[in-house]
Amino acid sequence: MAEPLLCVGDAEQAAARALPRDVRDFVAGGSEAEVTLAANRAALDAVFLTPRVLAGITACDPGTMLVGCRSALPIAIAPMSYQRLVHPEGEIGLARAAREAGIPLALSMMSSTPLEEVAAVGGTLWFQLYLLRDRGQVADLIQRAERAGCRALVLTVDVPRMGRRLRDMRNGFALPPEITAANLRDEAARLVRRTAVGASGVAIHTNEAFDPSLSWADVTWLRERTRLPLVLKGILHPEDARRAAEHGASAVVVSNHGGRQLDGAVASVTALPGVCEAVDGRCEVLLDSGIRSGTDVLKALSFGAAGVLLGRPALWGLANGGARGAAQVLSLIADELRNAMALAGCPDVGSARLLRPTALTGGLASAGEGGQAR
Ligand code: FNR
Repeated sequence: MAEPLLCVGDAEQAAARALPRDVRDFVAGGSEAEVTLAANRAALDAVFLTPRVLAGITACDPGTMLVGCRSALPIAIAPMSYQRLVHPEGEIGLARAAREAGIPLALSMMSSTPLEEVAAVGGTLWFQLYLLRDRGQVADLIQRAERAGCRALVLTVDVPRMGRRLRDMRNGFALPPEITAANLRDEAARLVRRTAVGASGVAIHTNEAFDPSLSWADVTWLRERTRLPLVLKGILHPEDARRAAEHGASAVVVSNHGGRQLDGAVASVTALPGVCEAVDGRCEVLLDSGIRSGTDVLKALSFGAAGVLLGRPALWGLANGGARGAAQVLSLIADELRNAMALAGCPDVGSARLLRPTALTGGLASAGEGGQAR
């Protein structure tokens, strides 16, 4: 990267220069008017922390446990499809960067590299599932993930069908021939290639292959099929979070899919305090959607999250030189987090809950003294 990388915005700009327009839009875009996409940032920007001083800290330790896995940071990489679109190293490159940073990587079911090859990189791997109409194929994927040594299964619950992503529809977005849905059987993978004018090929596949009727019974089905910890990703409502804990989820990810599903859905950080309160420590709470800096991570922790998933910034890094570029973004965010912890008087991740986060504007949640540990 020629320019110095001082913030995630630098990586975003460099990626915008490196990527063809349709891929740049596929990564950056949200659904419909992109109101929720923008709200994720606005809501995080509107959160203010009250730092502690005279804390006598010589070093901050951002290490923690996430879903039973030791992690050097309260951060895991979010599951994101088709990473070879942004760089030939694809999922292998991002897995190497995550391993180097000492953090878990959630591999998408829709990855462009077979999960066994990504597992061979080493490091902590979680596997993300969508519920396909073809349950037999889901059952096979669970077994493959277990055999490959994955440490958790992440069921994404906010895609009964795909949000209307207008950028992809306008671009007639489709996968190039060399990129495939590498974990799926041939006939399912072939569907991804279908396109139509004014439509997204990825959306056509999703709407044909994914089961729109997924329900709590499917969570029970999955819970009974595996001994791996189960994470439900895409929860915003406190009542759904409570039910997730009741159904044996080890963690929920408070997420609006980075503003890519229901446009008009609440910003994830706005939903976070209600979810933490509802689960009341019965399962871990993670957050994604809009995290762009170490300070954003600290804000999520201050509300009671155990950690965050990092989405687009990891792909922007990957676009700028593969594993090396992704590692630069992760190390930047780690530096920012250590810096923010020192300035806020937090020696460790747990102490972030004492920062009295407040949210400025009407409609944003204010958590008072902090999150679930109170
Ligand atoms: C995603 N996301 C996603 N989620 C998931 O569960 N399975 C998937 O295959 C994908 N694929 C995917 C592709 C791309 C290009 C993006 C940008 C996102 C959603 C992702 O896991 C996460 O929820 C959001 O990206 C978080 O928001 P930020 O950090 O990107 O703002």
